[in-house]
Amino acid sequence: MAHPAPYDDLLSDLRGLFAGERDAIANAAAAIWQHVPGLNWAGFYLLRDGGLVVGPFQGRPACARIALGAGVCGTAAARRQTLVVPDVRAFPGHIACDARSRSEIVTPLLRDGALLGVLDLDSPQLGRFTPTDQAGLEAVAACWVAACG
Ligand code: SME
Repeated sequence: MAHPAPYDDLLSDLRGLFAGERDAIANAAAAIWQHVPGLNWAGFYLLRDGGLVVGPFQGRPACARIALGAGVCGTAAARRQTLVVPDVRAFPGHIACDARSRSEIVTPLLRDGALLGVLDLDSPQLGRFTPTDQAGLEAVAACWVAACG
């Protein structure tokens, strides 16, 4: 099923939430959850002591720590590239925090090329994430880094 692109409204809300406020990461996770349909998890993993640690999110409790290079999150972080995974069961090493997840997108949070963490969205629908989602999430990541990173 096609989804309307929600990213213009999301980015507009984020700019408001980030205005004059650097500690808006929890609100960013909530705004993503509010605007992007078809998700079962949306949130941040942040780089701490050389690994990824779960940050603010919406959804069920998730793995607390992910090593760089592990799973979709750790692979996107290590490559410093967005990863779109249409079928998580076909991704070697996928970390199944929630058995309902069927597709996933992970975008790195980069400040001047330095890794700060990743933004991770999961969906119970196969192939949920399109190039529109990739462009939208990369814009969300850049917006957060510029305001709060
Ligand atoms: N599936 C991710 C782990 C994080 S959860 O989806 C919230 C992965 O393979 O890195």
